Amino acid sequence: MKLSVFGCGYLGAVHAAAMASLGHDVVGIDPVAEKIAKLSAGETPFFEPGLPEILSQSLASGRLRFTTDPAEAADADVHFIGVGTPQRRDGAGADMTYVNQAVADLIPHLKPGALVVGKSTVPVGTAARLAELVNAAGARLAWNPEFLREGFAVKDTIEPDRLVYGVADASKEQDTTILDEVYSRAIAAGTPRIVTDYATAELVKVAANSFLATKISFINAMAEIAEVTGADVTQLADAIGHDARIGRRFLNAGVGFGGGCLPKDIRAFTARAEELGKGESVAFLKQVDEINLRRRQRLVDLVVDSFDGRVFGRHVAVLGLAFKPDSDDIRDSPALDVAVRLKGLGAEVVSHDPEAIENARRLHPQLTYADSVDAALEGAEAVVVVTEWKQYRELDAVVTAAKVARPVVFDGRNVLDPATWRGAGWTYTGMGR
Ligand SMILES: NC(=O)c1ccc[n+]([C@@H]2O[C@H](COP(=O)([O-])OP(=O)(O)OC[C@H]3O[C@@H](n4cnc5c(N)ncnc54)[C@H](O)[C@@H]3O)[C@@H](O)[C@H]2O)c1
Repeated sequence: MKLSVFGCGYLGAVHAAAMASLGHDVVGIDPVAEKIAKLSAGETPFFEPGLPEILSQSLASGRLRFTTDPAEAADADVHFIGVGTPQRRDGAGADMTYVNQAVADLIPHLKPGALVVGKSTVPVGTAARLAELVNAAGARLAWNPEFLREGFAVKDTIEPDRLVYGVADASKEQDTTILDEVYSRAIAAGTPRIVTDYATAELVKVAANSFLATKISFINAMAEIAEVTGADVTQLADAIGHDARIGRRFLNAGVGFGGGCLPKDIRAFTARAEELGKGESVAFLKQVDEINLRRRQRLVDLVVDSFDGRVFGRHVAVLGLAFKPDSDDIRDSPALDVAVRLKGLGAEVVSHDPEAIENARRLHPQLTYADSVDAALEGAEAVVVVTEWKQYRELDAVVTAAKVARPVVFDGRNVLDPATWRGAGWTYTGMGR
C-alpha cells in the first residue's frame, strides 16, 4: 500500500520504517530539515534499539523515503498523523498546534477516497472535529492510537499487543478493511483488534496511560508509608503482585515516571475532563501526578540528608539521564530533574547516561557530563542511580566501592541488591525499602 506518515519523531520515524519493512511504500514527512536529512541518510535522530536496522533496510529497498514537502504525500492512499501533542505552555491541556497544522498541510494533497489515520494521543473530541475538515476534502478519517513503548518501539509497532480502530459509522467496514490491510501481518498473527467509534479510540489511549501512571503512583504512595514505618515496598509489591488481579508489573517503586507521554497525557486528560464538566471523575490523576513529582524531591532530600544538609560543593555521581533505559528521551525525565535539583543546591553533579548525554547537554549545559561510568564515579561522595540501564543494574558493588571517595549509594529505581551493596561496605538507601 502507499502510505504517508506525518511526523518523524519517536512514533512517526519508527512507524514509517516499520511499515516499509512490512512491504508498504512509505513517505515520511516532517518540517525539520535536519531530521529529514539524517533519516534519508539512514541515521536515526534518536536512540531506539532495532531502528537503525529496519531504517537502512527499508531505505535500501526503495520503499521508504523522507521529505519536508507535504505535497509528496499526494500519491498515498493512507496518511498517518504521528506529530507531537506536548503539554501547552500556558496550562495542563494538550497543545494541538502540530496536529492541526499537519492536517492542514495534508488536506490540499488528499486524493478523493484517501484515509487519514490519526495516531497521536489527543483529547477526546479531536477526531470528530478533524473528520469534518477531512470529509470536506473528499477523504475519510480514522483514529488508531499508538501504544508503543520507547525501547521496544520497533517490536511494538510490528507486533502490537492490540490494535484499536476508531472509525466513522458510515465507513466502518471500508476503513476496517483498509487498516487490516495495512496491519495484515499483525492481523494474520491473531492480534486482538477493537473496532470502535472515535471517542472510544481516543479515550482508550489516555485511559491506558492513566491506569499505568496510577499503578506507579500507587506503589510510590505505599513507598512513602513504608518509609515512615520501616516496611519494605519491594516485598510489599512482590506480595500483592502475586494476586493475579493486581499483577506485579508496573509496581516498581522508585523515583517515578516521566517521558513524553505519561505526565502530559494525565494532565491533558484532567484538563479535557474539566472542559467536559467531569473534572471530578479524574481528579485523582492530580494526586497521581503529585505523588510522582514528590518522589523526585524525596530522592534529592535523601542525598542532601546524607551530607547533613550541606550538599554544596559535594561530588555527586548521577547515573542516568533518560526517563527510562534503552531510550535517549529526556522529556520530563525524573533522572535529569534530580540532577538539576542537586546542581541547583550547589552539589558538584557529574552525570552519566549511555545514550542521553547529547540531549541533556542541549537542555542543561550547566551540568557536568562524564562519558564513562568510571569518570562519573571517580571521587564521588554519593552515587545516585536514577535510570535503570542494564549497565548500572549490573554494577559490581565491590569494584565500584574502590572507585568512589565515599561509598554511599541511592537506588532511585530499587534495582540494586541492598544486602550485596551493604556487604561491600556501602551505605545503601532505596526508595521505600
Ligand atoms: N513516544 C512515544 O513513546 C509515544 C507512544 C505512543 C504515542 N505517542 C504519541 O505520539 C505523538 C508523537 O509523539 P513523539 O514522541 O513521536 O513526538 P516527537 O516530538 O518525537 O515527534 C513529533 C514530530 O512531529 C513533527 N511535526 C511537527 N509538526 C509537523 C507537521 N506539520 N507535519 C509533519 N510533522 C510535524 C516534529 O518535527 C517531530 O519530529 C504524541 O501524540 C505522543 O503522545 C508517543
